[in-house]
Amino acid sequence: MYAYIRDKNTHLIMKLTYFGHSCFLVDTGSTQILFDPFIRGNDLAKHIDIDQIKPHYILLSHGHSDHIADCEYIANNSNAMVVCSWEIYEWLQHKGLKNIHPMNQGGTKTFDFGKVKCVEAVHSSGLPDGSYGGCAMGFLLFIQHKILYFAGDTALTYNMKLIGEYHTPDIALLPVGSNFTMDIDDAVIASKFINCQNIIAMHYDTFGFIKVDHQEVVDKFSAAGKNVKLLNIGESISW
Ligand code: NI
Ligand code: MN
Repeated sequence: MYAYIRDKNTHLIMKLTYFGHSCFLVDTGSTQILFDPFIRGNDLAKHIDIDQIKPHYILLSHGHSDHIADCEYIANNSNAMVVCSWEIYEWLQHKGLKNIHPMNQGGTKTFDFGKVKCVEAVHSSGLPDGSYGGCAMGFLLFIQHKILYFAGDTALTYNMKLIGEYHTPDIALLPVGSNFTMDIDDAVIASKFINCQNIIAMHYDTFGFIKVDHQEVVDKFSAAGKNVKLLNIGESISW
């Protein structure tokens, strides 16, 4: 049972590795779940060897190239199941991928590692060739007693309060880079709305538009009583 009930008797240690931009690998010990693969096109992630990344699942928040550029390559290299919107599912099928699971906002599905719930992200989702990618999404992962929120690309939205009220994630990956998503101030408000103490920043520095002052990120979250980390690319944390 994963559900919303947290089993305080289990002591699962999860490892989270940052590959730059919004790309993270969650390792449960038995399953590796990759979010938004965009590595080879990221100048800041040149030291990451993409061939070493062999996840069991790839979760795509939306269709923009800075979130899916390496999806096909890694999926073919690992036979990972890709979890994405219905529209991206159809698009990837046309590209020849077979192991894909379509979802949409509000939907929940139990996989062998735990449960995935797709939540609202206020953002667009066109695919690189101009195809419609459906709605952008965020993901809640329920793995044993732990809850992780991956916000994807999103504006601050009052609906995040639903996550805080009903799910209270243990850890949240929030964009802070502004221009295309929330800025630091809005991400701090989001961390309050979702009722989460432990924040990992994402979607910053990759391009000129989204450069942030790291100290400002730390100072603003700290002032709100939140723990925030800006991981080095390639760095892992356990939680
Ligand atoms: Ni985007
Ligand atoms: Mn993006």
